Amino acid sequence: MSNTAALSQRTDMVVFLNGEFIPAHQAQVGVMTHALSYGTGCFEGLRGYWNTQTQETYIFRAREHYERLHRSCRIMNIALPYSVQELVDISAELVRRNGLRENCYVRPFAYKADEIIGVKLHELHDHFTMYAVPMGDYVSTTGLRCGVSSWRRVDDNMIPARAKISGAYVNSAFAKTEALQNGFDEAIMLTAEGHVSEGSAENIFLVLGSELVTPPPSENILLGVTRDTVIQLARREMDRITRERVIDRTELYGADEIILTGTGAQIAPVVEVDHRPIGSGKVGPVASEIQRLYAEVVRGMRPEYMDWCTPCFGATSTATRDADHAVASEQSSHNGHTGHNGHNGHVKSSGSRNKVARASKS
Ligand SMILES: Cc1ncc(COP(=O)(O)O)c(C=O)c1O
Repeated sequence: MSNTAALSQRTDMVVFLNGEFIPAHQAQVGVMTHALSYGTGCFEGLRGYWNTQTQETYIFRAREHYERLHRSCRIMNIALPYSVQELVDISAELVRRNGLRENCYVRPFAYKADEIIGVKLHELHDHFTMYAVPMGDYVSTTGLRCGVSSWRRVDDNMIPARAKISGAYVNSAFAKTEALQNGFDEAIMLTAEGHVSEGSAENIFLVLGSELVTPPPSENILLGVTRDTVIQLARREMDRITRERVIDRTELYGADEIILTGTGAQIAPVVEVDHRPIGSGKVGPVASEIQRLYAEVVRGMRPEYMDWCTPCFGATSTATRDADHAVASEQSSHNGHTGHNGHNGHVKSSGSRNKVARASKS
């Protein structure tokens, strides 16, 4: 997410705002916008993965992300005028219109739009926007050094972590900045009771002998789509059941492996916590295997998981041959690439997709 070029300067980028695809520099909000003052918005983060074999960008588990957005909006009193399927279609259309034939990130945002002074959630107008940008790694996937944060995770009765509320990310920002300024790569946050909750933007798994353990939903975590993916892949492909249970801080220090998971972070092994090596101090075998599986699944290389992949440019087939080679070469060519794609954003799109987008206008 280091792509900091101001949208207003990017004349070649198309965004979706309140029912229309428009040039990014025309998508403006007023300085008094409620969500800007008070953090009253909900968002999602989805990744698109480019597959060189099928010449296709697949958005990963778009339905699950939009089901969560609907849940977040219900909690935040935000009216979302699009169905899950319409949101999936708008996302694919956006990737297509921006010509994102590369790994990318899709950011939908539903927010309180009134330009008023006054803290509340009710009797306000809601707007919706979505943009898509190229994106490489968010954090290192070759071994993170983490610190347990002095900032505690927001509680469900303060700002519910299960909803992806923009204002709640101040909590994550405190933790992340503290971690980076203390020389770590990422923060691990505890609940007010001192139990392990999650990273600043990732869920957490511990490998304890033959067990895979992760905090339950009641530990003030965002119920991650990647978390669910890892639970399913571990069960189906590795015969490992994940146990959801309360985890103490010092269990981190004795774990055989620790893995952070998230759409941005992907599968990020942790090799050190609070200056203590985790396991061997190197990326462990469970993390490596999950990384390998995940890299194939997200790129549509595993037919049995294709219903998790939304093709944006119309591909129908999967690519299973030379999968390892394709993943490896794609990753090495892409790592660290966060610059804009340079396409003009006016890619011709299919009629049916356009129909959905037009029908979605509010
Ligand atoms: C606080 C927090 N926890 C966990 C996650 C992981 O969620 P997901 O796997 O759905 O991206 C994220 C990322 O969006 C996050 O911001």
